[in-house]
Amino acid sequence: AGVFTYDPGFTSTASCDSTITYIDGELGELLHRGYPIDQLAAKSHYLEVCYLLLYGELPTAAALEKFETTITRHTMIHEQMHYFFRGFRRDAHPMATMVGVVGAMSAFYHDSTDIADPHQREIASHRLIAKMPTIAAMAYKYSIGQPFMYPRNDLDYAANFLQMCFAVPAEHYHVDPILARAMDRIFTLHADHEQNASTSTVRLASSSGANPFACIAAGIACLWGPAHGGANQACLEMLKEIGSPDRIPEFIARAKDKNDPFRLMGFGHRVYKNFDPRATVMKQSADEVLDLLGVENNPILATAKELERAALADDYFAEKKLFPNVDFYSGIILEAMGFPTSMFTPIFAVSRTVGWVSQWKEQLADPQHKIGRPRQLYLGSTARDYVDIEDR
Ligand code: CMC
Repeated sequence: AGVFTYDPGFTSTASCDSTITYIDGELGELLHRGYPIDQLAAKSHYLEVCYLLLYGELPTAAALEKFETTITRHTMIHEQMHYFFRGFRRDAHPMATMVGVVGAMSAFYHDSTDIADPHQREIASHRLIAKMPTIAAMAYKYSIGQPFMYPRNDLDYAANFLQMCFAVPAEHYHVDPILARAMDRIFTLHADHEQNASTSTVRLASSSGANPFACIAAGIACLWGPAHGGANQACLEMLKEIGSPDRIPEFIARAKDKNDPFRLMGFGHRVYKNFDPRATVMKQSADEVLDLLGVENNPILATAKELERAALADDYFAEKKLFPNVDFYSGIILEAMGFPTSMFTPIFAVSRTVGWVSQWKEQLADPQHKIGRPRQLYLGSTARDYVDIEDR
């Protein structure tokens, strides 16, 4: 006691032990419960990965079917919550709406805020994973003035999300299986990433014994920032600002200029200093989606392709080991699918919910866990006497 380590940004402090996710930034390795992310992205699917993250093992066929049925049955939100949505300004950013609505779930599901009961923790986990796509899609529909679309039990998780975002009651909506698969991959590749800022936020919030919906709302708030989940939106906005491939040298020069705060959004990572293994898979998925949708004429996507090439060929980015990260490619896919940039971070929030929830459950099950309470390096004034207002 009395001796503290000063570690701003927590670059060398482990805040917990965990058995969920392993990252080796030098090797570009990401394992969930030991399974490499590229194998999971190729052979598994999002809900199976959710099961793996939550329970530690891949499910048997029967266990997976039961889990998928449970999640599907929890996708509707309480009808009264529609009024809660309607309280937001209609042009509210969907992340703002999500922070509010997810926090408000604590008022709708009193039973699952009893975190001392493992059964209630289980129900809260299922509710969060199941309802998050519904909430994100509703936040989107509300922001564009379209009617909410109810979840459909005949569709899988990713296809259902596309349906809730893009269908309208007047028309039959066909979900393209290639797009549903690409959506599922985006969810899978973002499912967990050990103690990143939003996950650490969830753990810190929950360390006081707060209810699960409030803790996940705190995670959503943290994810929103452009240095974290907001990077996919910031990346697309940057591509729009660049506008066409011939302006790329100008922006690369700005990113290299130490007097200019501009950074290439979607490049670089705190942990991955060689490559981001998620980006490799996401790039393949981006190529598939672009082939399918035939977007040769889209100047943003053409700019993205050229920026990727130009940055990878540039010495500055090579020396600093700055590679396109997962958000660079996910932004391109979501743009091609027709999502507005404001939905990019909500989609990240949907995907990461299982990571937050798994880490939350792990923390509560740990008999050693205690309230998170960082110390500080105080640089303020030493003790001094109060000065009366007339003497200042
Ligand atoms: N463009 C230009 N220069 C950069 C960039 C960039 N995107 N990223 C880092 N640098 C430079 C930075 O200026 C610094 O240079 P120097 O050593 O000369 O001062 C050096 O590279 C190291 O950067 P850092 O900020 O000390 O590294 P960090 O580990 O603290 O930051 C990062 C990691 C992701 C916040 C940062 O690379 C960044 O701001 N990238 C853009 C935002 C982004 O794409 N974020 C998404 C991250 S992946 C999704 C997620 O997990 O949320």
